[in-house]
Amino acid sequence: MKILITGVAGFIGSNLANQLLKRNHEIVGIDNLSYGSLNNIEEIISNDKFQFIQGDICNPLLLKDIKAELIIHLASQKIPRYSSAYRTLEENSIMLKNIVNKCLADKCKILFASTSDVYGKNKDLPFKEDSDFVLGDSTVKRWAYALSKIYGEQYIIANSDEFGLNYTIVRFFGSYGTNQNLTWWGGPQSLFISKAFRNEAIEIHGDGLQTRTFTYIEDTVAALINCVESKKSDREIFNIASNPEEEISILNLGKLIWKLINGEGSIPKIVFIPYSNFGKYEDVQRRVPNITKIKENGVSSHRP
Ligand SMILES: NC(=O)c1ccc[n+]([C@@H]2O[C@H](COP(=O)([O-])OP(=O)(O)OC[C@H]3O[C@@H](n4cnc5c(N)ncnc54)[C@H](O)[C@@H]3O)[C@@H](O)[C@H]2O)c1
Repeated sequence: MKILITGVAGFIGSNLANQLLKRNHEIVGIDNLSYGSLNNIEEIISNDKFQFIQGDICNPLLLKDIKAELIIHLASQKIPRYSSAYRTLEENSIMLKNIVNKCLADKCKILFASTSDVYGKNKDLPFKEDSDFVLGDSTVKRWAYALSKIYGEQYIIANSDEFGLNYTIVRFFGSYGTNQNLTWWGGPQSLFISKAFRNEAIEIHGDGLQTRTFTYIEDTVAALINCVESKKSDREIFNIASNPEEEISILNLGKLIWKLINGEGSIPKIVFIPYSNFGKYEDVQRRVPNITKIKENGVSSHRP
């Protein structure tokens, strides 16, 4: 299949492109390198079946001459902890509109990267694909990210209803592994690993009792490949996550990573960062996935 991947030099994009090429797909990858890196794609850059275009997806002209049967739209702004809510809302909506217009014009399918953050503060756990979204008020800028993804999901489904757009929407719960961004951009798991390796204190936001689950990148990519190659993924939404039993508090994650890297006997260096440092901020206290749907559809995350 000829596939366009946006955000190809980022964490998930680079790992996914690598595996899709091994399965003989042809890949055009776009990235403006705002958060991704050429190092992430150095293994594949000279592959005959891979073409890299450096550019901004906010510019629709960039997409004009590309031909693809499927667009995997990964490029995104994330939670504006250390960045701007305006940029998250503006860039995510402009990019999505450009990609959807391209899909409609070329009659190709979109695979859209959404997030577990859409479930927000919903206390009804674990989160199923049809669970409610419970966000905080509009003056808390962290919700800009979830909102931009909810808008994206609704926009895609509305385009499917009106104009027949084919789609798959995936909601990732935190992934980790090779090529992850080693700042907060990559999530706590990647920052904690880089801090522990440098013997620097692990920064915990709030009291660290908030919980998450984490998925190894090979499993995330395996699930994505099944979504790419299986017709069963058409017009469906899937959580891509590990088992709910993997739920761990951020504080315990920090301690675990520290001990795995610096030895069982080493006392973890931990520093607590109050939420007030991010202005008016709210965290999600528990985030637990239900992955029954992706398993039942044969789109499960076994490794290829
Ligand atoms: N990594 C996770 O655990 C996780 C969790 C939930 C959702 N997601 C979603 O999955 C997708 C991929 O996440 P990731 O962790 O690989 O992110 P990433 O930041 O590592 O990769 C995204 C890539 O998009 C590029 N990009 C951003 N804006 C661009 C633009 N305007 N034009 C061209 N390129 C642009 C960046 O340079 C980066 O390389 C994102 O949509 C993210 O919201 C990821």
